[in-house]
Amino acid sequence: MTVDRLAYGGQAVGRHEGLVVFVSGAAPGETVRVRVRRVQRRHVEADVVSVESASPERVTPRCVHFAQGCGGCIWQHVDYAGQLRAKEATVADSLARLGGLHDLPLRSIIPAPNPWHYRNKMEFAFHPEGVLGLHPRGAWHSILPLHECFLAPPLTVALVKAAQAFARETNLSLHDPRTHQGLLRELVVRQSWGSGETMLGIVTSPGPFHDAAAMADCLAAVDASVVSVVRSIRASSDTSAPLQQTTLLRGQDHITEIVGGLRFSVGVETFFQTNSAQAERLVALVRELAGEVTGALAIDLYCGVGMFTLALAAAGAKAVGIELSTSSVAAARVNAASNGLGDTGFLAGDARTVLPQVLAEHGSPYVVVLDPPRAGAGGKVMRRIARAAPTRIIYVSCNPTTLARDLAELEPFGYRVCVVQPLDLFPQTYHVETVVALDRHAILTTSVPPSAREPE
Ligand SMILES: C[S@@+](CC[C@H](N)C(=O)[O-])C[C@H]1O[C@@H](n2cnc3c(N)ncnc32)[C@H](O)[C@@H]1O
Repeated sequence: MTVDRLAYGGQAVGRHEGLVVFVSGAAPGETVRVRVRRVQRRHVEADVVSVESASPERVTPRCVHFAQGCGGCIWQHVDYAGQLRAKEATVADSLARLGGLHDLPLRSIIPAPNPWHYRNKMEFAFHPEGVLGLHPRGAWHSILPLHECFLAPPLTVALVKAAQAFARETNLSLHDPRTHQGLLRELVVRQSWGSGETMLGIVTSPGPFHDAAAMADCLAAVDASVVSVVRSIRASSDTSAPLQQTTLLRGQDHITEIVGGLRFSVGVETFFQTNSAQAERLVALVRELAGEVTGALAIDLYCGVGMFTLALAAAGAKAVGIELSTSSVAAARVNAASNGLGDTGFLAGDARTVLPQVLAEHGSPYVVVLDPPRAGAGGKVMRRIARAAPTRIIYVSCNPTTLARDLAELEPFGYRVCVVQPLDLFPQTYHVETVVALDRHAILTTSVPPSAREPE
């Protein structure tokens, strides 16, 4: 079959005798011989057996773990220009197909300054069969012992190797996800690009950890930038559940990241953009799209530790951030104070319930920024924003499919897209960040559809 394009989700797509075929490890424009793995109702899933005529975009993957099925980066076989083209096409296609938004002012994607070594946070899993590494794609119960990683900065890999050696030499008990036995579970490495500080989080099961101080000292000896080592406890097998009980092993309990000239305190669990160089551009873009905000009300929904809220406050806005996580809100308040922006308001709670309260208290905002999780904001929040009639809405999205669905909600209220700016925050992966600015062109009238007229 001939491969037409790379799809959102990472796979390559082509057709064979009228059937849509999704195939891993192929590149656009090439002819591949494939073996069918699974037949679904509307498509077929297949694996490449051989490349008959290679795509001009095909390159040799850099990392030994790519061929082993590492779940980290699955587009290493496509050159960077090809990855960027695929991401631009994904954004345009999603907005048109899922949002009904055509002929949009789509700007060229902003590439990452370095498509390698860009991640400021990596999480590795301990495992009795491989000591410490990354999970293969879709195989959360096994491990690829880490030898190299080109998404992480070199120091991260050095720290993983030191932790592997320490665990081997001291014969520490390693957690087995199949039996739920064992002490050491994960190693979190966070590096600040702005301050150069490094933090390590050793995640363990509950129970005594006699070698904790020795392990912290051993890892801190790898590099003088390691200013923080903490131990966090995870009791449940759900790795997405919040960590319990973080204790300090060495140094301080946070590192400082600097973005847009502002300082942010980052703890072991704090959500922070993982590509610091692109976070800088993201903040600059949001400020540019917000325009002149001096004295104006700006609401930042899903604000995390306040990156956009504080950038808007620093530009003179009366800024209010809304965020579900109480620990992020606490960190946002600390960040506001340490940047001399203590007047900035942060409210903890679900956007669906807190947004109406903020609107009731402060009135209609000039600009609303929203940066929801992958699932999007949902119709209720989008319609609530639209009914508040801000002059401008800036939607920052990490998922073009939910972005398209959410934007479609704004159209009946007279909002028109004026900028679509994709950014590559995640080179070597299929993920794409998109910033969309919308302006209100029509005054809200009785022609608003019934679905938009809902109680507060
Ligand atoms: C993609 S992050 C954006 C964070 C921030 N804008 C940044 O760039 O650092 C999404 C944030 O939404 C928060 N969140 C998730 N569901 C929420 C909800 N229902 N209401 C408010 N915040 C929510 C998460 O805790 C997370 O901090």
